[in-house]
Amino acid sequence: MFRRLFLWCYAALFNAMSGPVERAGLRDQRRALLAQASGATVEIGAGTGLNLPHYPPAVSSLVLVEPDVHMRRRLSKRRAKLGGYAEIVDATAEKLPFPDATFDTAVVTFALCSVADEKAALAEIGRVLVPGGSLLFLEHVRSTDPMIAAKQDEIPFPYPLIGCHPNRDTLAAIETSPLLVESVRHGEVPRAPTIERPMIVGTARRPSTA
Ligand SMILES: C[S@@+](CC[C@H](N)C(=O)[O-])C[C@H]1O[C@@H](n2cnc3c(N)ncnc32)[C@H](O)[C@@H]1O
Repeated sequence: MFRRLFLWCYAALFNAMSGPVERAGLRDQRRALLAQASGATVEIGAGTGLNLPHYPPAVSSLVLVEPDVHMRRRLSKRRAKLGGYAEIVDATAEKLPFPDATFDTAVVTFALCSVADEKAALAEIGRVLVPGGSLLFLEHVRSTDPMIAAKQDEIPFPYPLIGCHPNRDTLAAIETSPLLVESVRHGEVPRAPTIERPMIVGTARRPSTA
């Protein structure tokens, strides 16, 4: 009951909490990453839809996967504001309800930290991408500084309540998945708490021949 209430509050406050971080430069990083999206596109863990304004015209169709009902409500509102071009699907990354090789592009931003099973999620992303299709990722990750990593390993309140794992080595997870990392840049989430600050942004591809 407490967790349900907390998740409602988290979704309700998500945009307000993200505002300073987005304005401090994250919005520009989202835009630059999403400029590479094209064709049939799926975004996984779409949240309140902060990526929605940044999809380029080269995206021919857009599916937004989001398992949390409170997030979906806000996602739907933002979609309506922007013209309602995307389909919203209630599902998890670990069990995507799409046939093999459905999408040209998959997008994850600050979502692989939250999925229950990162390995299964990446396998599913690989499955639903066409051979040669791209994963665009922007994630906060485990620090290379042992002192910060130790703090991340504590997973302090409120991270467990929102299901966020700030200590994940997501680049290693992508590298050991069926996808091939093509580009990666290490940076920092602007104005984020120390344990959420280390960030990776990049692209990976499903190999053309499997
Ligand atoms: C920190 S929010 C990020 C939202 C959005 N991607 C963004 O960049 O603002 C993490 C999102 O992942 C979603 N999520 C949690 N577990 C998930 C899962 N197993 N599969 C897909 N999405 C999940 C949450 O509901 C939440 O909306």
